[in-house]
Amino acid sequence: MKTVLVTGGAGFIGSNFVRYLLRVEPSVKIVNFDALTYAGTLENLKGLPDNGRHVFVRGDICDRPLVDKLLREHTVDTIAHFAAESHVDRSIHGPGLFVQTNIVGTQVMLDAARQAWLVDKIVEPAATRFHHVSTDEVFGSLKPKDPAFTETTSYDPSSPYSASKAASDHLVRAYARTYGLPVTITNCSNNYGPHQFPEKLIPLMILNGINGRPLPVYGDGQQIRDWLYVEDHCEAIRAILKNGRTGETYNIGGDNQPPNLDIVHGICALLDELLPASPHRPHTSLIQHVTDRPGHDRRYAMNITKVKTELGWTPRHSLQTGLRATVQWYLDHPEWVAAIQQQAGYQQWIDRNYAKRGGK
Ligand code: NAD
Ligand code: TYD
Repeated sequence: MKTVLVTGGAGFIGSNFVRYLLRVEPSVKIVNFDALTYAGTLENLKGLPDNGRHVFVRGDICDRPLVDKLLREHTVDTIAHFAAESHVDRSIHGPGLFVQTNIVGTQVMLDAARQAWLVDKIVEPAATRFHHVSTDEVFGSLKPKDPAFTETTSYDPSSPYSASKAASDHLVRAYARTYGLPVTITNCSNNYGPHQFPEKLIPLMILNGINGRPLPVYGDGQQIRDWLYVEDHCEAIRAILKNGRTGETYNIGGDNQPPNLDIVHGICALLDELLPASPHRPHTSLIQHVTDRPGHDRRYAMNITKVKTELGWTPRHSLQTGLRATVQWYLDHPEWVAAIQQQAGYQQWIDRNYAKRGGK
């Protein structure tokens, strides 16, 4: 791993990964390739450690000539593929873009890597790796007593987002089996932490709570996710890039499965404590149950035995420590929050997603 092309490196997990890798891998160079959609921003790349080893290129993963050029110009030997449309609710409003970015974009990246590494051999093929970042949502929804997802659970996606990620995973495996592309895949559970775009549950609830706006809980709020602090995810990906077996898939998760309502209550308690003078205390008074998401997966849970036993990775953050660090980060970064919220389209998305949900 000498030169890593990180796609989607200006988004939430990608920018945390770039920051993390620059810190822990002193000889690695990063080419950060991102289209800067609504979810990607250069605000996420301010103050990087050792910025001299980081090059940012704005562009689309569907742009094959540009991807070809970047791989050669920088002699890329490793691709960490994060770029995607990532929000389930947006995929319900506009599935086409998810097919284009997540499926077509991934195929373009795979094919460009195949050509550069296996055909043109711009670097020694044995020294290359295409790592695909995927989600637990490809497995669909668990019933209350079902065992957690393992790496061999059948795919059964529910939303246009998860269906597009499932398709991208299949393409990655097809490129490994058909052409021998050296790939690894991680299917990870819900991430949270610094720099997450405030359309997802945790940052949305934190910012609405700070501002005294309603906290919109879908349905009964008893849906279950397996929450992972983003830096733990970054550590897992690095462990897999270094020591993961080529061709393998690894499940990554946080080893906790609270209902959404518990998460919202936890955020409210932290805001009550950290904002003692807030007129919105107790923040739980802002909770509103609103119309549920169509096709809403009820429960996810990850069995992470494989990555633990093979690679010795385990999440460092408990939900308590991770949530506290996250709430504190949003309180400490009002300039980041203002830049995101002033962005064209943000308020329109909030209006579009929540206006018709009403209170239940
Ligand atoms: P994000 O939406 O915050 O960031 C996505 C990034 O990709 C943005 O910077 C965006 O500008 C960029 N992008 C989008 N379309 C692009 C294109 N056509 N070309 C180049 N760049 C493009 O997403 P995230 O939460 O950081 O997720 C990153 C990856 O991790 C995704 O593949 C997602 O499916 C996966 N994942 C996310 C979670 C989670 O909880 N957030 C959990 C598991 C897996
Ligand atoms: P989200 O952060 O969108 O992630 P995902 O859908 O990929 O799991 O949502 C996490 C959970 O929180 C999910 O069960 C939907 C729920 N949710 C709400 O209850 N209210 C909200 O406003 C949002 C955005 C999500």
